[in-house]
Amino acid sequence: MNKIGVLTSGGDAPGMNAAIRAVVRTGISKGMEVIGIEKGYEGLLNGLFRPMNAHSVSGIIDDGGTILRTARSMEFKTPEGQAKAAKRIEDTGIDGLVVIGGDGSYRGALAIHETCGVKVIGIPGTIDNDINGTEYTIGFDTAVNTALESIDKIRDTAASHDRIFVVEVMGRLNGSIAMEVAIAGGAEAVLIPEFKHDMIKLCRNIEAWRSRGKMSCIIIVAEGAARGSDIAATITQVTGIETRLSVLGHVQRGGSPSAKDRSLATHFGYYAVDLLAQGKTNLMVGMLGGCIHASPLEDVIAGGRSVDTSVLNVVDVMAT
Ligand code: ADP
Ligand code: F6P
Repeated sequence: MNKIGVLTSGGDAPGMNAAIRAVVRTGISKGMEVIGIEKGYEGLLNGLFRPMNAHSVSGIIDDGGTILRTARSMEFKTPEGQAKAAKRIEDTGIDGLVVIGGDGSYRGALAIHETCGVKVIGIPGTIDNDINGTEYTIGFDTAVNTALESIDKIRDTAASHDRIFVVEVMGRLNGSIAMEVAIAGGAEAVLIPEFKHDMIKLCRNIEAWRSRGKMSCIIIVAEGAARGSDIAATITQVTGIETRLSVLGHVQRGGSPSAKDRSLATHFGYYAVDLLAQGKTNLMVGMLGGCIHASPLEDVIAGGRSVDTSVLNVVDVMAT
């Protein structure tokens, strides 16, 4: 393995820069040339290549976003797009590719491997923590802490006004962020896409808590479970209690990565290049049982990581 490429793809996540740094420095330590590919698969198609050296990744371990930038490329999903990307890879002499992103990005990695044989290794980078084969994705911990900081502040104003607050967090298909912030933020309820919610039960609970003296509540809603605005409107309509909505949105994707995300990203980046150096392909590095582990990309994309819905009971018990 002489020349490797690295790209970030899909939604950005805090810690992607730390992963790029680890890939570049590990590659260099093994005598490889490292090429940064800008804007994910879009940059691969269009030849947005940037030779990287140890200095090009100086001072980025604590930066949010991704210095390589990212994109969602429709053209790359087509056979013509993949053929164009494969030609770029062959022309540049890249024989290994590290893809930092989510499961969509791994589908792309497998497609490009099929087309031109380049060896591909995935690193899980998404705030959603929804990837099979790893207990943590890069960015999840930071996103949870960012959301938590806001929720703690919202609780202050909710308590001052005896109000119900609905807080919408990210997670279109997965309730990981919602469940983690609900537990850590002491929320009274959490609605996730994986579990059908019962609005009447929730409203009755809010009334019961109020009759016992709990005058304010935080209800966390994952964006894929329902629209926060609909949940807030229903609560007001059914209970008559003043309810406000706060949609946290893309703030959850930014900011300096937490210690956990920086460390995870560094280990993942190191291990990904090590696998390429061993001639391995079609694998994703992940963390399982506290250990770094490689899983076949085919298994990883076979289905999203399921959430542990028993956590919902813990939220219920804490709310009483
Ligand atoms: P994530 O990697 O976070 O899941 P996306 O699903 O948006 O994000 O995927 C990122 C990019 O990966 C897409 O814009 C597309 O270029 C590529 N991709 C996604 N799905 C496929 C697929 N089935 N085949 C080839 N490329 C894909
Ligand atoms: O996959 C990460 C994520 O932030 C999801 O939680 C969210 O649903 C989505 O990306 C938002 O995507 P976009 O960048 O297109 O707004």
